[in-house]
Amino acid sequence: MILVTGGAGYIGSQSAKALRVAGYRVVIFDNLSAGHREAALGAPLIEGDVRDVDAVRCAIRESRASAVMHFAARLVVAESMHDPAGYYETNVRGALATLEAMAVERCHLFIFSSTCAVYGEPTEVPLRETHPTAPISPYGQTKLAVEQALPHFERAYGIRSIRLRYVNAAGADPEGDLGEDHTPEVHAIPRAFDAASGGPPFEIFGEDYPTRDGTCLRDYVHVADLADAHLRALHRLEQGGASATYNVGTERPSSVREVLSAVERVTGRAVPHRSAPRRPGDPAMLHASTARIREALRWVPQRAELETIVSDAWRWHSTHPRGFQVTPRPGSPPRTPARWGGG
Ligand SMILES: NC(=O)c1ccc[n+]([C@@H]2O[C@H](COP(=O)([O-])OP(=O)(O)OC[C@H]3O[C@@H](n4cnc5c(N)ncnc54)[C@H](O)[C@@H]3O)[C@@H](O)[C@H]2O)c1
Repeated sequence: MILVTGGAGYIGSQSAKALRVAGYRVVIFDNLSAGHREAALGAPLIEGDVRDVDAVRCAIRESRASAVMHFAARLVVAESMHDPAGYYETNVRGALATLEAMAVERCHLFIFSSTCAVYGEPTEVPLRETHPTAPISPYGQTKLAVEQALPHFERAYGIRSIRLRYVNAAGADPEGDLGEDHTPEVHAIPRAFDAASGGPPFEIFGEDYPTRDGTCLRDYVHVADLADAHLRALHRLEQGGASATYNVGTERPSSVREVLSAVERVTGRAVPHRSAPRRPGDPAMLHASTARIREALRWVPQRAELETIVSDAWRWHSTHPRGFQVTPRPGSPPRTPARWGGG
């Protein structure tokens, strides 16, 4: 049995689905602050908060969980600048409470959702796992703090862990059951869909970067490939593998303009857009080397083409214009995008 915290969210729900398809039983533990009951796809869902050690203990004990996949977190970078206390509270205290519960209940395998935001301003790309970690946002700092705590929990309580540092998660369930439903929406591809569907124009933050078309380059990894990375990480730990840290990305960065073109091709609609100033802290290029995870876990992204990522995302978005609230009200406006960068 695998306990999936944050399993009613975007990446957690896709990973919980992948676990079930692979034959695992799962229990989702989520306070539904950003997740959706429907995303559990009928798996048992415990409504609880990861900061509550007793609630997590109870969930582990009653489900007899042998491993925890920990997705529960807040993840909007700009929001973390204004509310560091809230981010430390959920991301650090929540993870430490989960680990404490695991230690007491003798649950010894932990897969942690980390982020390439732990690196901060890249001094060289692609980012390798050995790149210095110097986060520039409280969000990145909270994830690094948990990563740094993990070796102590291993020494003291025998909890082995794999830390997966993702780049930008994107796409949707290839079978159409799950997709991205964040409020506010902070990610580029769904924001472009909203613009193409009559929402506010898409804002391009900076068009004078030293890149092939002047816009920022980002690495988008398909959510189903992320789920597969989690499954492989779990197998590795179950087989007695050592704790490790891996980047997860495609190594095929796309520019903002390339994303907009892909959205226009896939949707057959124009994406109204306008130029906006650069955002502080947005590097020109952000993509990760994945040599380590390819070698160690034999993980290879299966849906790495931008066109595939956008097509899968559009299938979900166009059939779920109100996200998991499946029945759109006639004439209801598209969801409101935000100016923030996430993940
Ligand atoms: N989306 C990305 O591009 C991206 C990139 C890098 C890392 N990550 C990491 O991946 C993880 C999942 O991201 P996501 O995009 O699926 O986010 P999400 O917001 O869709 O999912 C997070 C889930 O955690 C739940 N949650 C939040 N606080 C909780 C609490 N205190 N107790 C219990 N549940 C709580 C939410 O209700 C939600 O269901 C996060 O840890 C995030 O930092 C995401």
